[in-house]
This record gives sequence, C-alpha cells and structure tokens, in this order.
Amino acid sequence: MAVSGGALFLFVIGHLIGNLQVFGPPEMINRYAHFLKSTPELLWSARLGLLLMVGLHIASAVTLSMMNKEARPEPYAVLSASGSTVQSRYMLVSGLVIAAFVVYHLAHFTVLLPGVNGVGDFSKLKTSLHGEEVPDVYAMMVLGFRVWWVVLFYLVAQALLFMHLSHGVAAMFQSLGLRNHVWGPRVQCFAKFVSIAIFIGYASIPAAIFMRVVGHDYAEKVQHQLSSAPPTSERALVVAGKEAK
Ligand code: HEM
Repeated sequence: MAVSGGALFLFVIGHLIGNLQVFGPPEMINRYAHFLKSTPELLWSARLGLLLMVGLHIASAVTLSMMNKEARPEPYAVLSASGSTVQSRYMLVSGLVIAAFVVYHLAHFTVLLPGVNGVGDFSKLKTSLHGEEVPDVYAMMVLGFRVWWVVLFYLVAQALLFMHLSHGVAAMFQSLGLRNHVWGPRVQCFAKFVSIAIFIGYASIPAAIFMRVVGHDYAEKVQHQLSSAPPTSERALVVAGKEAK
C-alpha cells in the first residue's frame, strides 16, 4: 500500500508542476503536453506503470480492510472515534471519490469525450507548434473550466484528495518504518504541509480560470473553433478518402 501510494503521490506532484504551466503563455503548456505525447513508447510505459500502481493500491486497500474485519469479526458495542482523525476514518470514501474523479478526468481531458465537458468537441481545438498542428490543451483548460459544475466537481475532488493525502502521506512513512518518536511530528507536519500545497496548487487552476483571471481573452478567441468544421488536415483526409473510393 505504501509503495504504490508513494508512486501515485509522486505522480500527483509531477502532474501538478506540469499543469501549473497554465499560468504561463499558451505555448508553454501546449509545448509540454506535446512533448509528453511525442514518444509513444515512454508515454505508454508511464501509463501502464500508473495503472499497475492504481491496481496495486486498490487491491491492498481491499486486502487490508478484509484482514481488519477478520481480526475483529464482532462489531464494537460502542463506537468511539478517539485516537483517529476524520481523514483516517474516511480513507475508503475519499479514495473512491478520487477514483471516480480520475475516470471523469480521463474522459474530460484525455479521451476528449464531448458529452462530459458541457462545452463541445475538444478534439476540434488545435494550435500550431513549429509549423505542426497539435492539440490545444491550453484552450481545453480555459474553455473547460468556464463550466460551473465541472469546476465544482474538480474542487470537491481536490478537497478529498487533500483529505486522502494528509493521512496517506503520514501513513506511508509509518508503514515504511520512518515514523518514530523523533521523526513522527516532522512527518505529520510534512504530510499536512504537502497536502495543503497540493490542494492550493490544483484548486487554483479551475478557480483562476472560472474567475476569468487566466485565459479569458484566449478563450473568447478560440471558442468559435468548437462550432466550426473539422481542422483542415482532417478535411483533407476525408476528401482524400472519398477520392480513393
Ligand atoms: C485541477 C486539476 C487538474 C488539471 C487541470 C489536470 C489537467 C490534465 C490535463 C490537461 C490532462 C491531459 C494532458 C494531455 O492529454 O496532454 C490530464 C491528464 C491526466 N490527469 Fe490530470 N489534471 C488535474 C488533476 C489531476 C489529479 C488530481 C489526478 C490524479 C489524482 C490527475 C490524473 C491525470 C491522469 C492519470 C491523466 C492521464 C495522463 C495520460 O496518460 O495521458 N489529474 N490532466
């Protein structure tokens, strides 16, 4: 549980650093997104590794909770929450909501399912990088986070991610045997600090875009692409396909 959780924690930090580039000019995050996808072997190795870690994390959560139940088959006569925090008692619930969020998030920004974003077909949003037509990830974000219910879901998911990490990071150090009486308070402090920083970092993105602090002019400029015909390269393919028949 600790090792898979640690790997997912590192992903969450890396992904946040990448996403914070939305506060820079549009080319910055578009160049980064294009770079991530430019080597399919690396991209798919990372995706499979991530999937494996998610699978291991869920499998160990299920095994641990079954072992817990077996250790005490009879329920307690009186339930007392002393000695445990809200975060620790709701790890399963927060984990399930985060998993649901990730499924939605993949449909939103990776698979680009038009029905889930409340805006339109994101696959039509293209921009040019060094003369090459690439997906306009900046446009997807600045248009996608104008929708109030999308922003609300992202903020709720980030709040639960904060809850999950503030207990999970400390528990990870404990499982790895690094939370003794000397390091215990420091580990606790680090877990709180890092989970608050992650919450602020992620939540600031939809919040800043929704409040029109980031990307307002750009969103106005590219909005028409959503209702326009497919990009020229796709049109050329369709025409070429028809001619071939
Ligand atoms: C405000 C918060 C977030 C924003 C703005 C955001 C943004 C994005 C974007 C734009 C992509 C697509 C990148 C591309 O196709 O080029 C993406 C992919 C992804 N995000 Fe997030 N993300 C956020 C939070 C999270 C969180 C909290 C998690 C995990 C707990 C997460 C997990 C993923 C995963 C697994 C992918 C797929 C990567 C891939 O294989 O292509 N994201 N995110």
